[in-house]
Amino acid sequence: MDSSSLDAAASVLAKSKYLVALTGAGISAESGVPTFRGRGGLWEKYKVEELATPQAFRRDPAKVWSWYKWRMEIISKARPNFAHVALAKLEEMGLLKALITQNVDGLHRRAGSKNVIELHGCIWRLRCTSCDYAEEVEEPVREVPPRCPRCRSLLRPGVVWFGEALPERELKRAYQEVSRADAMLVVGTSGVVMPAGMLPLLAKERGAVVVEVNVEESAITPYADYFLRGRATEVMKALFEGICERLGKSP
Ligand code: OAD
Repeated sequence: MDSSSLDAAASVLAKSKYLVALTGAGISAESGVPTFRGRGGLWEKYKVEELATPQAFRRDPAKVWSWYKWRMEIISKARPNFAHVALAKLEEMGLLKALITQNVDGLHRRAGSKNVIELHGCIWRLRCTSCDYAEEVEEPVREVPPRCPRCRSLLRPGVVWFGEALPERELKRAYQEVSRADAMLVVGTSGVVMPAGMLPLLAKERGAVVVEVNVEESAITPYADYFLRGRATEVMKALFEGICERLGKSP
């Protein structure tokens, strides 16, 4: 981690008036939740078109659900890490105004973040494929595939699959927050899935400063004002402490 860019980024973020964060799978990696791309990523072992599309679900709902049940089991054992906690604390301090995430694991909310925009939905929210039944669960589903208690149709995970539109309300909120941002903190995303991946660019085009935290370069790095290379927990700890110091608050 380069300490001069870390100090400079901490100063810029501490002075910001409207800080918005964007997170991806990398922020939950150290909680034990696998990422999608890169070495050991889910898309290396599994095929998107067999597991994460509406067609795959129509073809073989049990197969799709077994995969989601397995992911639910992993996530249910995971705990928010310091990077999640730091973002929750920055919001509590009044500095971070909104957190846009592509993650479906719910770890930001568990860490205490309030204004969370879950652009790709949440794995813990189930909804019926026929009626308007929906529920939030806390444990992995038992029955595979699970059925609607009201109409016995199939339930589906409340996540966005490839080829599906993003939830309109969340997307609108995300654009609104980005349009207000004078600083954007991007943590642990490859930045290749749209439209989430282009939010930092939109912010940048409107004059916001972009600070990126990632173990490696991403699609966002070429235009990031500060690229802080390292693991999310380590960089976020140093960044959080640097921000607190500049704001005269104890971390
Ligand atoms: P990816 O798996 O594409 O990228 C994870 C990013 O996190 C990479 O840039 C890694 O370098 C970085 N990373 C890994 N470990 C890290 C760590 N400990 N600290 C910091 N960075 C780390 O995940 P996303 O960008 O979130 O969509 O993927 C976007 C979307 O693609 C997901 O929401 C999902 C997926 O297909 C849907 O399912 C619709």
